[in-house]
Amino acid sequence: MGRTRWLIVGAAGRVGRVLIAALEGQPVRTWTRQDADLTDRDRVLATLAAIRDESTDPLICINTAAVADVDGAEKDSRTAVSVNGQAPGWLAEGLSDADLMVHLSTDYVFGGNSGPTAPYDEDAPTAPLSVYGTTKRDGENAVLSARPDSYVVRTSWVFDADKPNYVTLFRDRLLAGDPIEAVTDQVSRPTATTDLVAGLLALCSRRPDSGIYHCANGGQASRYDVASAIGAELGADPCLVRAIRTDQAPRRPAIRPAYSVLGLRRWQEAGLPELRSWRIPLREVILRPSLG
Ligand SMILES: NC(=O)c1ccc[n+]([C@@H]2O[C@H](COP(=O)([O-])OP(=O)(O)OC[C@H]3O[C@@H](n4cnc5c(N)ncnc54)[C@H](OP(=O)(O)O)[C@@H]3O)[C@@H](O)[C@H]2O)c1
Repeated sequence: MGRTRWLIVGAAGRVGRVLIAALEGQPVRTWTRQDADLTDRDRVLATLAAIRDESTDPLICINTAAVADVDGAEKDSRTAVSVNGQAPGWLAEGLSDADLMVHLSTDYVFGGNSGPTAPYDEDAPTAPLSVYGTTKRDGENAVLSARPDSYVVRTSWVFDADKPNYVTLFRDRLLAGDPIEAVTDQVSRPTATTDLVAGLLALCSRRPDSGIYHCANGGQASRYDVASAIGAELGADPCLVRAIRTDQAPRRPAIRPAYSVLGLRRWQEAGLPELRSWRIPLREVILRPSLG
């Protein structure tokens, strides 16, 4: 068997871009929307077959592609059904036995509206509240039924300095001296893209038992906690960050879980490196300028 080739699907996205940077010097094949639209099953299978034919070396396919816009998925559920729910299964199906499939998923597969309890175990029943969560849950099932030897890696509230996100939005508003309102009743684990990527690469290298893993930074926070931490780091006037409840915020198309903290039991049992507290990468990110 030859050396491993990486196939990064969703190569132009937040996680895809950081993965590609982290794999510099290794054989990486990228897959963007221009290579094949993930709504087209025949195109997906043909593109994958052509990539497999380029070499006999086994592939590690990391699927980071998704309709990740949670509200956008409510408006265009058809595309979300294909890209999030079906295409992951087509990719898993099209790989050879020697290849490995790693698929990214989300804490929004959980319902979390019965009040904060304990972090969600990997085996906890899913109960998505949105089209995004439902289609992502379907994608998990599609991957694991096509290829039970795959990894499904759920993560949450991903942030970095490179592509606009809730952290850079809060930071930029506070730097401009603008007030922000942030909800106290949505709690999860903010996770830095760089730390998630390091976790994914550790998983691929150690190859523990297949199935679902949760990969997220340590600690938990509400959106208000994140905004307050950014304000404190910037030395902003604390009055600029106002705590509100979700029912006081402008109505958005998708319902978000009130509590979707991912439990890290399987990650820890597999001896995978624990990700640091979210506050440490947060500090690094808010002190770096956005690249847009
Ligand atoms: N961001 C978060 O907070 C978060 C939280 C939990 C889980 N996740 C999961 O983490 C993974 C990576 O998310 P991300 O933040 O990197 O998302 P992202 O920045 O939106 O990247 C997703 C990529 O998927 C591509 N894509 C979408 N529809 C496509 C289609 N029809 N055909 C081909 N490519 C398509 C997009 O291509 P274009 O660039 O051409 O649009 C984009 O590059 C996803 O599985 C997401 O569900 C993300």
